[in-house]
Amino acid sequence: MIDVLAARLDTPGCLEVNHLNNAGTALPPKAVSEAVLAFTSQEALLGGYELAERAAEEIESTYDAVAALVNAGRRQIALVENATRAWDMAFYGIPFEKGDRILTCRSEYASNYLAYLQASRRYGVGVDVIPDNEYGELDLVAAANMLDRRVKLIAITHVPTSGGLVNPAREVGELARSTGCYYLPDACQSVGQIPIDVAAIGCDFLSSTGRKFVRGPRGTGFLYASDRAIVEVEPPFIDGHAATWTSADSFVIRDDARRYENWEFNHATRIGLGVAARYAMRIGIPSIWARVRMLAKRLRSALAAIDGVRLCDQGRIQCGIVTFVCAGRAAPAVKAFLQGRKINCGVIDASWTRIDMDGRGIPEIVRASVHYYNTEGEIDTLAEALAELMSGSASAPRGLPA
Ligand SMILES: Cc1ncc(COP(=O)(O)O)c(C=O)c1O
Repeated sequence: MIDVLAARLDTPGCLEVNHLNNAGTALPPKAVSEAVLAFTSQEALLGGYELAERAAEEIESTYDAVAALVNAGRRQIALVENATRAWDMAFYGIPFEKGDRILTCRSEYASNYLAYLQASRRYGVGVDVIPDNEYGELDLVAAANMLDRRVKLIAITHVPTSGGLVNPAREVGELARSTGCYYLPDACQSVGQIPIDVAAIGCDFLSSTGRKFVRGPRGTGFLYASDRAIVEVEPPFIDGHAATWTSADSFVIRDDARRYENWEFNHATRIGLGVAARYAMRIGIPSIWARVRMLAKRLRSALAAIDGVRLCDQGRIQCGIVTFVCAGRAAPAVKAFLQGRKINCGVIDASWTRIDMDGRGIPEIVRASVHYYNTEGEIDTLAEALAELMSGSASAPRGLPA
């Protein structure tokens, strides 16, 4: 059982807003912000390099904390600026050749899909989208039928930006292992809310961000790389941290995941990420997962009862991300209305997950994403506000029909 009151007392933002935008950025625990602020102030007083030397152990401890979050070894973790950079360092390192195939899912994130299109243009690789099953999840049978020796990479989004769906990451890992192709799940929206075990998933890489369900600082992300990946996949670019310049015309690339990093980094946020990861582990990811699902279920039931609100989440297992459209109301107008009541939600338009949203004929959605520190009362307040809006008893800009 999570002590929700204690978690909220630890989160100053809870006094200010009803924050249901955890899939955008979560509110950090005060220990995270305090660590970042304290380190930044000290840098100004002591010198950045000098403080980094003194705080080397603390900075290093972030690798252990992040590794523990996903059940990896510390040498398998690279700390980078965000999930996109983490993902890019893996993807762009894979030596694609003409005729190779990439398998992905319908709910793939825009930045990843753009990289496939670029690789397709550059190298002539094929990009094949695995169809969804009747529940809107990536269809494992179809995926198995699409596999052949030309598939060099399976890359999927575990939890999409556009809904509560949880794709079967572990089962896809089994498929990838059956052919030996590389496997790169994007776990940006799942780490911190769902238990993640890279060994069980059986991936070569896994990318994630710090600011979402991990509750870390903005500008942080990480890449897990398996031992095989570290040996086989060269980083797409290197610097004096990722590699050593051994003589005028030779170099050696590091033999751990830090080969995917670069030298300069905001040390304050790196420390903050470590604090956030340890905080999440102390609360316990299985407990977080249970509470997030309970709160999201409560929200879905409440929204389903409001005339004109249509839920858009797919999948048999649904996470803390709750998406919906409101008849006759543009998503940004709904978001603005809620924000006027200090309720934070997000809006996602189809450009962020085009294949999925275009396919479902949904141009934009409102996204409410819960975390364990949210209360049942906050969930009910959102539902009540929406009921008021949809009944016409609250004034709000109508905007374009969603
Ligand atoms: C599924 C998914 N992947 C990747 C990203 C990108 O994360 P970042 O902004 O940390 O690069 C996001 C961000 O919303 C996302 O939803």
